[in-house]
Order: sequence, then C-alpha cells, then structure tokens
Amino acid sequence: MVLNFAHRGSLTEAPENTVPAFEKAIKHGTEGIELDVQLTKDNKLVVCHDHKFTKYNKDVKGRIRDFTLEEIRQIDVGSKFSTEFKGVTLPTLEEVLEICPSDVKLNVEIKNIPVIYPGIEEILLDCLRSYDRLDNLVISSFDHVALEKIQQLAPDVELGMLFYYRILRAWDYAKNSGLNISSIHPNNVYTDREFVENCKQLGYKVYPYTVNSKKRYEELVGYGVDGVFSNNPEIFRN
Ligand code: G3P
Ligand code: CA
Repeated sequence: MVLNFAHRGSLTEAPENTVPAFEKAIKHGTEGIELDVQLTKDNKLVVCHDHKFTKYNKDVKGRIRDFTLEEIRQIDVGSKFSTEFKGVTLPTLEEVLEICPSDVKLNVEIKNIPVIYPGIEEILLDCLRSYDRLDNLVISSFDHVALEKIQQLAPDVELGMLFYYRILRAWDYAKNSGLNISSIHPNNVYTDREFVENCKQLGYKVYPYTVNSKKRYEELVGYGVDGVFSNNPEIFRN
C-alpha cells in the first residue's frame, strides 16, 4: 500500500499548516499528515513552513523566532489565503495533535534551516510524549544533526532523512550516517527507479516530495515508492 501524506494539510483548500487545513485533510480520509515545526521566542512549538511571515501576512516583519507564542496568536495568517479564513493563526503542535487521529500517520518535519533552534529536539519529544504520539509517527529533517539528536534521545522513534539536492548515492550516505533511518524522503524531481531500488535494497522506505500530478504519482508508484507527500492526495485515491 502506498501511503499518501497530505503535505502541510490540505493546502489547496485552506492556509497551509493550519488547523483548517489539517481538518480538511482528515475529513478527506487522509492516511498521513506532514507538517513543519519551529520554535517561538519563548520556545513553544508552532507549526509553520517558512521562517518569516512574509508569505502568510505581508504586514508582519520578522521571523517566527522573533515573536512569543502570545504574539503569534495575534497574527492573522488566514486572510491572505481567503477572507473565509480571516483570523486563523499558526497552530501549536499540541493543537494539531488534539485533532489528529492516532490512525493517521504523522510526519513531523523539524525545520532547522535556515534558522537553527537549539533544543528543539527535546521540546518536540516532550510534546509528543505528553500526547502519547510516538507511534505511527516519523520525524524527518533536512538537518541530519537534528535527526541524530532525536535518535540519541528516543532511539525507537522512526526517522526520515530528507534530501533536497541530488547527492551521490544518498542511500549509502544514510547507511554510513550511523542513524537508524527508516525512510528516505527525496525530492521527487530526481527520484527514479534506480534510486528507489538502491534505497529499498538497504531496507529503507522511500517517500518522495512533493508529488501533485497523477501521472508522476503513477510513475513513482511503478518504481516502488512506499508513499508520497502531496498537496492534493485525494486525487490519487482511485
Ligand atoms: O517533508 C517533505 C517536504 O515537506 C519537504 O520540503 O520545503 O515542503 O518542507 P518542504
Ligand atoms: Ca515540510
């Protein structure tokens, strides 16, 4: 079975990485949810992709890191998408865990680039533990040092290694990293049959991102991928 993750929730229908976007994905019966986490000035986990607000509210200058959670709760990130979502704010990870059913696989991506958040790994694990959400979960990051910290702190948590650029033999890099990686998350643009076969030979699942056309989806499924991240996963369901 191919696992279809709703990338940042159902981002074509609601502002990305917000509660309405996750609710819509869940309503569509999504099998998986992907989201990005960062830290506020007062070290609270919020769900957001960009480290600046520009894309979500052009009037707000500064980065997620510059605001406390209380301040972030005053920032409208919904109106830019549509007036229907006026007043929607960035959710905390807790708020998403409250609504995410345990049978929906959760992929939490630690966004540790270009801002590095010291201590985010501990804070994330504490939060997931308090919601008993260490199962049916994969923690991923482009920051492989953050993945190493997660492994040291919680050796049983599933780890996904993200790759943006095409590097030489990513599967060997994963093997030699000393990390107990369960899945490789490559950019879909260079994911081909050879890439998938090499990863699978070493026991890794392969979840490419971000796959939005049915044609490309079918190609990747033909190569043997185990799942994809998609902005509109419901189109793949039939
Ligand atoms: O986790 C897959 C994908 O979300 C990684 O890229 O930039 O969309 O977070 P990005
Ligand atoms: Ca992401």
